[in-house]
Amino acid sequence: MSSVESLKQIYEANGQSQVFTFFDSLSESSKAALVQQLSSIDPERVSNIAKSVLSTTPDSSSETEKISPLPASASASLLTASADEIAQWTTTGHNLIAENTVAVVLLAGGQGTRLGSSAPKGCFDIGLPSHKSLFELQAERILSLQKLVSRITGKVNVVIPWYIMTSGPTKQPTVSFFRDHDYFGLDPANVTFFEQGVLPCIDNQGKILLESPDKVAVAPDGNGGIYRALVDQAILPDLTRRGIKHVHAYCVDNCLVKMADPVFIGFAASRNVNVATKSVPKRSPIENVGLIVSKDGRPAVIEYSEISAEMAHRTVTAKNREELAFRTANIVNHYYSVEYLTGIPLWRDDYLPYHVARKKIPTVDLVTGQPVSPATPNGIKLEQFIFDCFPQIKLSRFANLEVLREDEFSPLKNKAGTVGEDDADSSRADLLKQGKRWLEAIGASVAPGVVGVEVPPLVSFAGENLEQFKGKSFSSEIELGQEAKI
Ligand code: UD1
Repeated sequence: MSSVESLKQIYEANGQSQVFTFFDSLSESSKAALVQQLSSIDPERVSNIAKSVLSTTPDSSSETEKISPLPASASASLLTASADEIAQWTTTGHNLIAENTVAVVLLAGGQGTRLGSSAPKGCFDIGLPSHKSLFELQAERILSLQKLVSRITGKVNVVIPWYIMTSGPTKQPTVSFFRDHDYFGLDPANVTFFEQGVLPCIDNQGKILLESPDKVAVAPDGNGGIYRALVDQAILPDLTRRGIKHVHAYCVDNCLVKMADPVFIGFAASRNVNVATKSVPKRSPIENVGLIVSKDGRPAVIEYSEISAEMAHRTVTAKNREELAFRTANIVNHYYSVEYLTGIPLWRDDYLPYHVARKKIPTVDLVTGQPVSPATPNGIKLEQFIFDCFPQIKLSRFANLEVLREDEFSPLKNKAGTVGEDDADSSRADLLKQGKRWLEAIGASVAPGVVGVEVPPLVSFAGENLEQFKGKSFSSEIELGQEAKI
């Protein structure tokens, strides 16, 4: 039997023979391309995933019975921690960075559909005076922290390796953007791109969808695809080769992200946890953020798309004030011990569930062969979520650090002028306001009506090194001069 015949049989045995509908009418090169794509897909796995997601009926009301806020033993807050405690975490973090044991992992495989831009989100210019992209801000934060730690600890050659996870749609434009900008001054040897996997899109009956007669519709497998990719793309051995012990993973879209944050690394390492998260207090019951909770005595995140309205709105009274019962908002800043990550091969295939994202997926009419651009969702993208491994971890090996929203979380999700929040305008304003707070704290002033000042990461990582501006007044939204570099 030819290899094409045996491939057909495998797809047929798994109820997916529709992918061969147009095969006989294709050109030889299109046949070869389709065979290659179909050979890279495991139809049995896809059919099993489809069966399991389509037979699951979410029953959030019974789930809420087992869910409670994280216990105090697994939580700390920068809003209430003592200055001594924060100083200890910071010093621990600086020392671990100085020993070159800390790396950062960027999740940059998302397609940013809500933002309405076809370029990777990291390339986005949020309209700062400098017009720096999110990638540039992040690269400069790494450079800045390396220098800061070197200055504080006296260690030379401090390196914070940066691992950037891309996906099919974001890989090429992301790599080109870095090359075109000379890696923003970073050593390319310390910037590693790796690619997450894809999964076929399915229709509402679980059948794999064709995008065109010779191509299966596929989509990135969600940010939980990171665990499979860390193994398949040989990132774990690279971490080990470099002697990395602590990893900070974060979202591309947060212009305030403190990469390799010494406070967070020091906090997590001091507690000797496998995984730690950062959170902010949820802004309102309807904010689109996951909730970090305890579920059946284990850490978990309930994603905003899966939370019941009752749970989202439930309130409690504490210190004579009514507040949301579940308010620990996930901002996708995760700490991992490398010891934990090296165990991924033991659980990655069986543990993480798949989530259903119902989308409008361009496809092809199986009778006429004509393209179909659906006006309403016609199919499902299957996604894994990065936090779904948390319930494997004992609460004693997990910790959450609450941080200040104004200092650490301003996500770029929406197109400016549409939703009116979490867009380029709010990102720009939040970054400028942070600069204003830092400058005012050292005795500079910002004129009334001026939103703020752009403090480049190369001048200050987190508000330090600004004494030189004491007594200065700023009358417009400018970028502070590079002469003040660390
Ligand atoms: C995410 C969180 C949510 C949190 C919110 C805060 C997940 C599943 N959800 O939601 O709990 O409150 O951010 O802003 O983490 N990504 C990939 N590959 C993919 C899909 C996404 O790398 O296949 C990356 C994106 O590039 C981004 C991050 O994952 O950096 C989060 O993705 P996004 O779609 O923005 O998540 P939200 O739905 O906003």
